[in-house]
Amino acid sequence: MLISDVPKQAGAAARLVDPIAVPGGALPVPGSGRGRKHGTSQTEPFDRWFRYPAGFASDYVASLLAHLELPKGSTVIDPFAGSAVTGTAARRAGHSFFGIEAHPAIAELGQLKLQPAPQHCLSFSETAKQLVTAAESLAAASEARLNEESDLVRRCFTEPVLTRLTSLRDLIRAGAAEEWHLHAKWALLGTLRDVASARVGWPYQRPGSERKPTYADPLGRFLQRVSWIEEDLKQQSDFPKGLDFKVVNGDSRSQASWAEIDAGSAQGCVSSPPYLNNFDYADATRLELYFWGDVSSWAEMCSSVRAEMLTATTQQSSVGAAMNARSELRSYGDVAKAIEDIVEKLTTERTVRRRGKEYDRVVPDYFLAIAQVLEQLATAMQPGASAIWLVGDSAPYGVYIDTPRLISELAQELGFSSEKDVVLRRRGQRWASNTTRHDVELSERMIVLRRTS
Ligand SMILES: C[S@@+](CC[C@H](N)C(=O)[O-])C[C@H]1O[C@@H](n2cnc3c(N)ncnc32)[C@H](O)[C@@H]1O
Repeated sequence: MLISDVPKQAGAAARLVDPIAVPGGALPVPGSGRGRKHGTSQTEPFDRWFRYPAGFASDYVASLLAHLELPKGSTVIDPFAGSAVTGTAARRAGHSFFGIEAHPAIAELGQLKLQPAPQHCLSFSETAKQLVTAAESLAAASEARLNEESDLVRRCFTEPVLTRLTSLRDLIRAGAAEEWHLHAKWALLGTLRDVASARVGWPYQRPGSERKPTYADPLGRFLQRVSWIEEDLKQQSDFPKGLDFKVVNGDSRSQASWAEIDAGSAQGCVSSPPYLNNFDYADATRLELYFWGDVSSWAEMCSSVRAEMLTATTQQSSVGAAMNARSELRSYGDVAKAIEDIVEKLTTERTVRRRGKEYDRVVPDYFLAIAQVLEQLATAMQPGASAIWLVGDSAPYGVYIDTPRLISELAQELGFSSEKDVVLRRRGQRWASNTTRHDVELSERMIVLRRTS
């Protein structure tokens, strides 16, 4: 679908159709290749290290990068880098990569995937076998300390499983995996949901709801994950020379996070920002964060993990930030009016409810944040370079928010032209206000922006 197919007035009902053939060549859609429709692939090399719920598959990103027709050795950016799916796809295509990710643990994972494997040491699988033998012999001692684990962690596993997981964790934390420390950590974190006996599917962890574990033997499953990581690292052993790969743990709104990339040096961007759908990236990884000991309370989660994330959930919203955002957005012309119109409708919907959620406070803060990221992205990108963003629309309380379109319009205020707006998949949900039922489904879209000169 061309951007011109979307109704002129932002926020109005868009008639979403699927014409994928667009000027400049057909854009690949997920499902047309091996790329999963949604979520990080559980089978692709590197993606399978850890299933981050918000990701897309690297083979799909590879097809998007191919569409950009970048010369080898280009620099690709992702300001919402997640677990570096764009990064691994860019490396495979022979490009440098620069990503920014606000979630500290996920940024660590992304960076780990992009660095060369440790050399001149015991192999990862040999190290892991030694760890497993030691963990078995320490299991009895670990059992005595299970009451020190958080409530969430204790309720997600049977005692024999948790004893093995914690003894392995304590060995790794104590440095027993040596050069393989982070690889061992992520092989273990990837194992947790495989062996849990409570419902820990993404994004919600429901320790009160039992299930049969997908895999019974935690140490065996850990070794299997180690073998995948080792296989992927071997496949990538020929580390491309002269290219740089980096995931910075930071906030892509702030100029400081972009310090390592020169202005005008990036030739492409493939990214997916948080959607306006109340999805909480910190909460989604609560099990791993509590298990590893990164956080021990909700307050700590908010102060350390969520601190640099842009506001996309009502739990992150505040009156002050929303007021400030509404005033700052005023300089963005017509798109600011469209956002203000949405905010007013959402305020009305909130106030007619007894405990209405503060979507009206999330929306201005979210779009101001997106504008700030686009401003940094515009500085980093070469004139003429393209950015592909995957993003969904939403309809809290039946108020339709055409997020992809509003992002495209903000981008036009910030040095980009809007080239394409394509429906990728329908999300099977019709949006309805209190009084009307509109015949429009929510969808996930791909917008293509071009840096103007
Ligand atoms: C839709 S996900 C992208 C996932 C990624 N494409 C992948 O494959 O793993 C959006 C990501 O943006 C991150 N994020 C949120 N606010 C951010 C900010 N201000 N700066 C950088 N990253 C941020 C979230 O933590 C989340 O990982």
